[in-house]
Amino acid sequence: MLILGVETSCDDTAAAVLRDGRTVLANVVSSQDQVHSPYGGVVPELASRQHIQNILPIVDGALQKAGVTLQDLDGMAVTYGPGLVGSLLVGLSMIKGISFRWHIPYVGVNHLEAHLLAIQLEHEVAFPYIALLASGGHTLLYWVKDIGEYVHLGGTRDDAAGEAYDKVAKMMGLGYPGGRIIDDLAKSGNPKTVRFPRAQIKMGSYQFSFSGIKTSVWHYLKSQTNEEWQNHLADIAASFQEAVVDMLVKPTVKAAIAYGVSRIVLAGGVAANSRLREKMTERVDAEGLKVYFPSPKLCTDNGAMIALAGYHALKRGCRDDFRLNADADLTL
Ligand code: KG4
Ligand code: ZN
Repeated sequence: MLILGVETSCDDTAAAVLRDGRTVLANVVSSQDQVHSPYGGVVPELASRQHIQNILPIVDGALQKAGVTLQDLDGMAVTYGPGLVGSLLVGLSMIKGISFRWHIPYVGVNHLEAHLLAIQLEHEVAFPYIALLASGGHTLLYWVKDIGEYVHLGGTRDDAAGEAYDKVAKMMGLGYPGGRIIDDLAKSGNPKTVRFPRAQIKMGSYQFSFSGIKTSVWHYLKSQTNEEWQNHLADIAASFQEAVVDMLVKPTVKAAIAYGVSRIVLAGGVAANSRLREKMTERVDAEGLKVYFPSPKLCTDNGAMIALAGYHALKRGCRDDFRLNADADLTL
């Protein structure tokens, strides 16, 4: 079964071709980081315009790389939510157009479900597992019982983890997106330099909060002259990162223990973070659990995970028609 997966929910235009839900024949992504970089965050109107320019070359590129044509496809999958409505509409409208012209069945995919399943493209992780999805738009914890069976355990009360990285990087004048930059910078810093507060969420809940740490970093920077804090950027980055990682690891491991689930899966752009991978592995090993990380290309937004979620839906007999609309607030 040959599936084309298309993803345009935020600022990456992505397409992939997947064979039999297993073999990624092509996985092409066009990042818009340079377009949004001057603003320190994604500008929705610019994102949708950029998708319009990129979508055809990216889909063509994926088909060419896979060595297939539209006529070879058995089905298509496209993200229809959650995300930026203008961005979502670009991918969805294009897939509807292809479906209409070439009579290829398609399904709309929930972006969150695709992230939770992305790991299966590289590792055969048995169900159930606890999945932490941490990206620029989401910080969510799910109990993944099986394909199609997702129990929401918790999420952030305010900012997403990636958003905190991006905002702190902006405050420190480091550039956009901030996650990768802070991750690299922190490698040469001392995480014990500043003890930023970890949001304490009451026992028994799996909530996250990242707005407090963002404010703490701001106050810390304001308490010094620019020259003072610029002299120890790496230490501030490492201290900030250590706090964020602590706040991500603790509830995730706690949920795995509480639900008696021995496998943890990470997903989303922040799952590419080197310190998160290190600390999660340490904690998980200590508890006798197992953790799985997708490779960085499958952590961030990509078409392969959309094709995978679509493959399972198409296999179950799901089909969408031309009435499907983009849903910016779609939940799982
Ligand atoms: O999943 P993603 O590509 O897009 C969505 O937000 O859906 O995630 C992007 C986010 C950005 O906030 C970026 O700063 C963060 O993931 N990120 C990282 C790292 N690489 C990307 N955060 C921490 N460490 C990283 N190495
Ligand atoms: Zn995403």
